[in-house]
Amino acid sequence: MNKLPDDQMLKLAAQSMFDVFASTAMGSMLVDRQHRIVWISESYKQFLPALGFHSAEAFVGKRVEEVVPNTLMNEVIDTGKPILVDLLSNQAGTFLVSRLPLRNEAGEVIGAFGMVLLDQPETTMQPLIAKFGRLQRELDSARQQLAAQRRPKYSIASFIGSSTAAMEVKRQARRVAQTDSTVLLLGETGTGKELLAHGIHAASARAGKPFVGVNIAAVPETLLEAEFFGVAPGAYTGAERKGRDGKFKAANGGTLLLDEIGDMPLALQSKLLRVLQEQEVEPLGSNQLQRIDVRIIAATSRDLPAMVAEGTFRADLYYRLNVLPIRLPALRERQGDLEALVETLAEDISRRSGLPHKSLNADALDLLARHDWPGNIRELRNVLEQATLMTDDSSLGAGHFAALLGVPARAESAPASVRAAPGAPNMVEAVEADAPWTPLPQAVAELEARAIRQALQRTGGNKLAAARLLGISRATLYQKLPPATHNESSPTGD
Ligand SMILES: Nc1ncnc2c1ncn2[C@@H]1O[C@H](COP(=O)(O)OP(=O)(O)OP(=O)(O)O)[C@@H](O)[C@H]1O
Ligand SMILES: [Mg+2]
Repeated sequence: MNKLPDDQMLKLAAQSMFDVFASTAMGSMLVDRQHRIVWISESYKQFLPALGFHSAEAFVGKRVEEVVPNTLMNEVIDTGKPILVDLLSNQAGTFLVSRLPLRNEAGEVIGAFGMVLLDQPETTMQPLIAKFGRLQRELDSARQQLAAQRRPKYSIASFIGSSTAAMEVKRQARRVAQTDSTVLLLGETGTGKELLAHGIHAASARAGKPFVGVNIAAVPETLLEAEFFGVAPGAYTGAERKGRDGKFKAANGGTLLLDEIGDMPLALQSKLLRVLQEQEVEPLGSNQLQRIDVRIIAATSRDLPAMVAEGTFRADLYYRLNVLPIRLPALRERQGDLEALVETLAEDISRRSGLPHKSLNADALDLLARHDWPGNIRELRNVLEQATLMTDDSSLGAGHFAALLGVPARAESAPASVRAAPGAPNMVEAVEADAPWTPLPQAVAELEARAIRQALQRTGGNKLAAARLLGISRATLYQKLPPATHNESSPTGD
């Protein structure tokens, strides 16, 4: 057989493909440049009654979009792009269809060829559709699980309080959550800066992305840079040989909390400023910049303007961070929230410790309201926790708290005559004053209890820090925490 010229071969291929499609498809049609139907196959006629036509003559010549609801033949003609596989649904049923543009020798679209490949694909393609459906459901449930895992533990509403000051903090937090700007959280220790940072992240568009915190005060100065920016592989020998990502990279797409920003060494302050301006980090030992997209929340209990004035904090970094400052009020500035806070914290303590919930008597609340709370809500939490652990009583009175706070249970219970001079330790008083004699074991116990109280007070109720101050372990401190203190009215000078 003689070899055919290439163009003739092509023409034959086109012709026989057309014949095969036209005869094997469940129906096919040709549409011209103006969207008019110019031809339909014999098999296509089966769909005409459902489309509202009784003869091919009435159907041919109409614009396709007027007689075949939901068709995309017009789109194929207008864009010149094929739609190889699609599902078409209208009153005639659901069909698997294919639509191809037709072009002349100059490459211009002259019309389109449409085929119904299958009708009722729901039944004929059942195994495929079922499998697709199953995969889709699996994907949905995996997505839900992932979302649940990622859902932040906190929200802005976790910041308890309905005083004007607390509501204003929450209003500002909700507002900044809508933005991508840097946020600066200012407030004394234990006022809830970290809690609020979590809440802002959770309320922001970045909620599904990581929230990463670095406590600058807790990382040795020499390690801070690596902690922030990461280390390139091979930068060091030994453990760091493989390199590692920094916190900026870990927080990419999400939020980075720079806690205790006031404790940042000056040298690192300028590097941080550059990162904030350029949105790029350079891992140690690498000369490649990595682009990062991170929202910064900085927090500190220190007086940044004063630090700027004395030259320990860079002014330009301060202004860069101070775009949206939120000042968290001290607990003593929102006494009205004390009861709600006690309620929430007591519930949380009982949930975590497995101990029954303990309610507070009115005299206990009065006593707490008179305290200055230098350690703010963290101190309140610790005091509640200690009081809860120290007794089996189901409700807590002033007596349970007096020793913990280093005050008499009732203001009038400590006559001025037995009050020690300010700062004078109890034991000295016991030895020198002509007060009744105290046996040594009791005097030692009193001195110990007093030292523990003072340490807890100085550290805002932070037991780990108090144990360090006292030079004992945290476990020992727990053992030594004063037992139930109902009738104690220890005179204190502080
Ligand atoms: N408004 C609040 N509602 C409920 N709990 C709070 C609130 N504020 C603080 N807390 C709780 O008090 C404790 C201390 O809060 P957090 O760690 O956020 O304080 P901070 O301002 O970051 O303190 P620091 O400056 O010492 O780091 C946490 O247990 C926190 O859950
Ligand atoms: Mg904090």
